[in-house]
Amino acid sequence: MTLVLGIETSCDETGVALVADGARILSSEVASQIAVHAEFGGVVPEIASRQHILCISQLVRKALADVGCGQEEVSAIAVTNGPGLMGSLLVGVCFAKALAYAWRTPFVPVHHIEGHIFSAFLSGDPPVFPFLTLVVSGGHTCLIWCERPHEYRFLGTTRDDAVGECFDKVARLLELPYPGGPSIQRAAESGNPETCDFPRAMTQTETLDFSFSGLKTAVLYRLREGGISREDVAASFQAAAVDTLFLKTRQAVEQTGARRLVLAGGVAANRLLRTRITGELGIPVSMPPFELCVDNGAMIAAAGYSRYKHGFLGDTRTRPHPGLRLA
Ligand code: KG4
Ligand code: ZN
Repeated sequence: MTLVLGIETSCDETGVALVADGARILSSEVASQIAVHAEFGGVVPEIASRQHILCISQLVRKALADVGCGQEEVSAIAVTNGPGLMGSLLVGVCFAKALAYAWRTPFVPVHHIEGHIFSAFLSGDPPVFPFLTLVVSGGHTCLIWCERPHEYRFLGTTRDDAVGECFDKVARLLELPYPGGPSIQRAAESGNPETCDFPRAMTQTETLDFSFSGLKTAVLYRLREGGISREDVAASFQAAAVDTLFLKTRQAVEQTGARRLVLAGGVAANRLLRTRITGELGIPVSMPPFELCVDNGAMIAAAGYSRYKHGFLGDTRTRPHPGLRLA
């Protein structure tokens, strides 16, 4: 058994997990900072990094205790080294490097998006390469062709806001609590999605890029007109965002001939999106369970396991990169 310790601190969740053979979670702990940032309506970077420092070593100790194993049983330590908030990344990378040095254990830097892709290997229906991935989160909206492990081709990405960012901004317009995604989903349950015909940007074009800033502005203008309930706006917005993601993904499936889709990232927790993609795309879909859609250490351990097996290791010179690109 190959045991990998995964550490994720790129934004506002401290995630620590122990995963066996890249597929079986033995322990996964996430310390969410939602309550700390909620009063500001979004993540405050300086507060986020301080919160990571407060809980990271405790979480690692707890993960080892949960599994009842010692440091000598850990084969590799994987950590997100970008993209993300610099202060937050620094905490995870420095901690993981120090631990790897002290334990004399291999150290594996992982790209955050690669972590989301590998969260699908923790699902009951893991994908087989090659496959198409739709990553939808607070920072990313991209369609990626995954040819083989660690070989990726970007097919499309957002030209402005990420879809999760759009959920968060629209929630703020609707005065719904942070984070916006779950709040909008909840409000939409008692709204009518056909009340407003919000735009589905770029769905009439060949490109596989996305654009979500126009949708946010359309919501703003509709709210200024007044005479509509928050629930109806939330439901109509959610329908437009999900429709856009679905139509672009269907186009990507047609263009690539993909025979499997991986759906991952925080917005993949959205029930309407999961239902439409699994029900209407016409190809099998691998997606992580709800709790592994948002940032966590297990997905970093899963990706780290594969990197470790393929010999992609880091060393003491490895640095965090807020704008790291997925090679
Ligand atoms: O993957 P993630 O935890 O962090 C990033 O890598 O950005 O994604 C967080 C994003 C937030 O924008 C949040 O509003 C969104 O995922 N999200 C959702 C839902 N749950 C979380 N969006 C729509 N519906 C949800 N149920
Ligand atoms: Zn993420």
